[in-house]
Amino acid sequence: MSDKAYDSIKPIIWQDDNLQLLDQRLLPAEHRYITLKTVHEVAQAITDMVVRGAPAIGITAAYGVVIAARARLAEHPDNWQRAIEADLSVLAQSRPTAVNLFWAIDLMREFIKSLSTSDPIAALLTKAQNIHQEDIAANVKMGALGAQLIKEPCAVLTHCNAGALATGGYGTALGVIRTAFADNKITHVFADETRPWLQGARLTAWEMVQDDIPVSLLVEGAAAHMLKTSQNTDKPIRWVIVGSDRIASNGDVANKIGTYALAVLARYHGIKFMVVAPTTTIDMAISSGADIPIEERSTNEVLGFADQQIAATGAQARNPAFDVTPAELVDAIVTEKGVVLKPTLEKITVMMTTL
Ligand code: MRU
Repeated sequence: MSDKAYDSIKPIIWQDDNLQLLDQRLLPAEHRYITLKTVHEVAQAITDMVVRGAPAIGITAAYGVVIAARARLAEHPDNWQRAIEADLSVLAQSRPTAVNLFWAIDLMREFIKSLSTSDPIAALLTKAQNIHQEDIAANVKMGALGAQLIKEPCAVLTHCNAGALATGGYGTALGVIRTAFADNKITHVFADETRPWLQGARLTAWEMVQDDIPVSLLVEGAAAHMLKTSQNTDKPIRWVIVGSDRIASNGDVANKIGTYALAVLARYHGIKFMVVAPTTTIDMAISSGADIPIEERSTNEVLGFADQQIAATGAQARNPAFDVTPAELVDAIVTEKGVVLKPTLEKITVMMTTL
């Protein structure tokens, strides 16, 4: 692996008192940062997929609260804590599925309530930076824990992008892949291209190439064929490894649309299914995946491509951005607090309440 290439992938930067986001809509062709000056710009950037991936959305929202507080404090020095509630709502409406967004907003809200300093902006910034750094540390930990589950050198299949770009850095599913590749346990990565935003083709493939990890792209429809036929080749797929946007307390997993299909296919073919996500992605307030709000995005994303219509005029479309994989199809959930095999409410509760 090239010397820590993932370290140079920074989706979110706080610099010179400003929030800068790597515009992921332009990758891999262009590596351009945009600067966000208002909370409305931050929320719009999340909605528009400038930044995406559950942990990265949460971190961005935390910095968004700092930006909001700065503006509110200047306007209403005496009651900015009350005035900022409107901004927290704006951030909360940016995308519905990734629970890390709501987790980060709630954490910042509680922190604001507890503040008794003369420099609240500095304190809020430190809080946001801690959220950011703790996410990276959690990813490195999960990388080690997930890699331990892979016993023999093999190929793996991943979906969407759960990499450095989707997090504070290093990645969740791609964090495990990075660590396991360094340990010679992963020999090859197959990546679904992930229609309609092509997070696999544009982002995962790019991250793997940066780290010199061999990667082959697949159209989603090739997954069943590859899971079956790869077994007798030099690149047998033994694990499907994905991230998550929200995990219910019973272990049901919401992730990019197409993940559920992969889990069904993996079980049918006797291939293990690993979900890698920090505990900030676990929503203990909901009892099952049925309670997870699934984002439906514009049908234009399906009917067209790069602003060009490709579908027959008059055709309708559906564009659910996520699906829910039932816990019974999940072999392992890897968090920074530990690994839960065959997840259940009881096992997840024990892990979440362990320090
Ligand atoms: O629509 P996106 O690109 O935000 O969806 C991202 C995913 O589904 C990821 O797999 C998930 O957020 C985990 S990222 C570590």
